Amino acid sequence: MIKNCLFAFLKQIIAVGSICFISLVIIAACSKKNPDAPENPKPEITLQSAATFPFGAAVAPDLLRNRPAYLEVVTKEFNSITSENVLKMGKIHPELNRYDWTEGDYLVNYAQQNKKRLHGHTLIWHSSLPGWVNNFSGDSITWEVMFKNHIETVVKHYKGKIIAWDVVNEAFEDDGRKRQTVWLQHLGADYVARAFQYAHAADPDVLLFYNDFNLENSVRKRNAVKQMAVDFLSRGIPIHGIGSQSHISVNTKDTAIVNSINELAQTGLKVHISELDISANSANDPNAVFTAELAEKQKQKYKLLVQAYNSIPKKQQHGITTWNVGDADSWIRSFFKRKDWPLPFDDDYKKKPAYYGILEGLK
Ligand code: G3I
Repeated sequence: MIKNCLFAFLKQIIAVGSICFISLVIIAACSKKNPDAPENPKPEITLQSAATFPFGAAVAPDLLRNRPAYLEVVTKEFNSITSENVLKMGKIHPELNRYDWTEGDYLVNYAQQNKKRLHGHTLIWHSSLPGWVNNFSGDSITWEVMFKNHIETVVKHYKGKIIAWDVVNEAFEDDGRKRQTVWLQHLGADYVARAFQYAHAADPDVLLFYNDFNLENSVRKRNAVKQMAVDFLSRGIPIHGIGSQSHISVNTKDTAIVNSINELAQTGLKVHISELDISANSANDPNAVFTAELAEKQKQKYKLLVQAYNSIPKKQQHGITTWNVGDADSWIRSFFKRKDWPLPFDDDYKKKPAYYGILEGLK
């Protein structure tokens, strides 16, 4: 009897043990890695993923349309885009009573489809004007109506689609005086303020920027821009930010870069590094070569600028925008007719040391 019970008990233990063993074998087999399955890849770090503020590039629709590598880099690396040329008055307003929205609308669609912020450049500038403005005649009231109509029509067309505008571009000389332009000549010194008021009336939600270059090196110009901003704020003129173009070079002093960013931030307004490029051949040397040493110097300059920008208050960081993407796309080569390598990507859209300088600056 006892023998039978023991036998039955042993049989049960063996049965339960076998079930456990088989279960363990199955679990082990299931949890074993399939050698053909891809490793869980870490998401690739890009400029937009590394930055805690919008990181952008100025773009050209024809390059987005016709150069696949360009499209790929813009789409992957940046979460903000600025219209390099297509929203300038000469392009968008070719005749007094005709606007051409084609290329601007193309950028709006690209931005919407790819979840990019679109920054508008620029409503009022003395350059890239349509021919008809230079021949425009009339008294100051006629000029004012034309000026107001241009701003209102463009801002209204892009209401809700463009998040921010460079309302006026480059209104100051290096000595801090207002630049002599057709606008100053026909509208008087306060035209800048009125441009901001007209833009605000057309779209009360859009952010409005004043944009200028050489604010790092020209202390007088920088002071004039800051004073104008303070004056606007005290008069209730709607202004939200200052764009510091930052077309600098590998030789621009670190202190000039840092002081400029910090001083602009002291206005309390948003700061946009709006057209960043760092020339590697500002001396215009026809025999210049982009050596590893120069690439490293450029990398350190990008890193320093990004670090300085990264340390201003978050709410004032509108973002950093490079002025186009690859070296071959830069205005510098065509404008100065010289060799240069100013951007974070090379002619083939490969990442340069400058790119890694930005990433290091963002840490
Ligand atoms: O689109 C025409 C093309 O049809 C024609 O065949 C070709 C022949 O020259 O010209 C093309 O237009 C050029 C355009 O760039 C597009 O490439 C213009 O001539 C040329 O003047 C224009 O230069 C632009 C420049 O502003 C003037 O508008 C640069 O690309 C652009 O990078 C530059 O950007 C400025 C900012 O707006 C303000 N801050 C300074 C910055 C650099 O100068």
